[in-house]
Amino acid sequence: MELEARQKLFETAKQWILEAGENIRAVINEPLKIDTKSNANDLVTHMDQQTEQFFIDKIRKQFPDHSILSEEGYGDQLESDKGVVWIIDPIDGTMNFVHQKRNFAISIGIYQDGIGEIGLIYNVMDDVLYAAQRGNGAYRNEEKLQPLKQELPLEEAILILNNFWTGPNLKIEETKMQALVRKVRGTRSYGSAALELAYVAEGIADGYLTMKLAPWDIAGGLVLVSEVGGMTTRADGSPIHILEENTLLSCNPKIQQELVREYIELK
Ligand code: IPD
Ligand code: CA
Ligand code: CA
Repeated sequence: MELEARQKLFETAKQWILEAGENIRAVINEPLKIDTKSNANDLVTHMDQQTEQFFIDKIRKQFPDHSILSEEGYGDQLESDKGVVWIIDPIDGTMNFVHQKRNFAISIGIYQDGIGEIGLIYNVMDDVLYAAQRGNGAYRNEEKLQPLKQELPLEEAILILNNFWTGPNLKIEETKMQALVRKVRGTRSYGSAALELAYVAEGIADGYLTMKLAPWDIAGGLVLVSEVGGMTTRADGSPIHILEENTLLSCNPKIQQELVREYIELK
């Protein structure tokens, strides 16, 4: 993507994400219309839908030749990653949004021909915007994020991991997960994949491991993490396919080999 065009696209997307966040904050204490999707804990609210629609209307008008992949179904049915694709999660961490009214984010990744050019993750209630353009570094508001630590023993790492994967499950060998939890300094789970990736990019967590995420959960975060020298792969170390569901390991490269080799055994 031509740099000037990308800068303009970045500025526009940034303005829209801040505006969408402001719209959510304005109604945060009003009653929510809550529905469930795939199961009783898979929540969606009218604000997820309204926020997605906000972006779709703006993109269709200003960038009619761009495609959109988005969670709530107002985007396109994409068969290929060709051209410019906006990958949008209007509210990532909907359960937090409903129960806590905080700890959720809007996530946008803008890709061209499958390559992540722009990543934006907006922590709405904290008013913190994580933003990155490929090759230009990553920012937390105005502050440039530092490259990830060059040395990192696993014993000193904080790993983002949902404790679900340390018990009997169908995806990953739980005894190895238990050993990993004993090995690292600590584990965390924040309930928003987008924020969890932003925290890896910020260096306040050293890795994030999970077993199933959709494109909109990770598209923005992948750009951020890569801009600070982090690595994101599937849990077995193989490449991510951005239009598909993926397992995910995003971390400081100093611990990625060790995790894949010693601790991650997919079933
Ligand atoms: C969810 C969150 C959560 C992750 C789930 C996602 P949603 O997204 O990112 O942290 O564990 O897999 O579906 O539904 O709140 O947009
Ligand atoms: Ca999500
Ligand atoms: Ca969502």
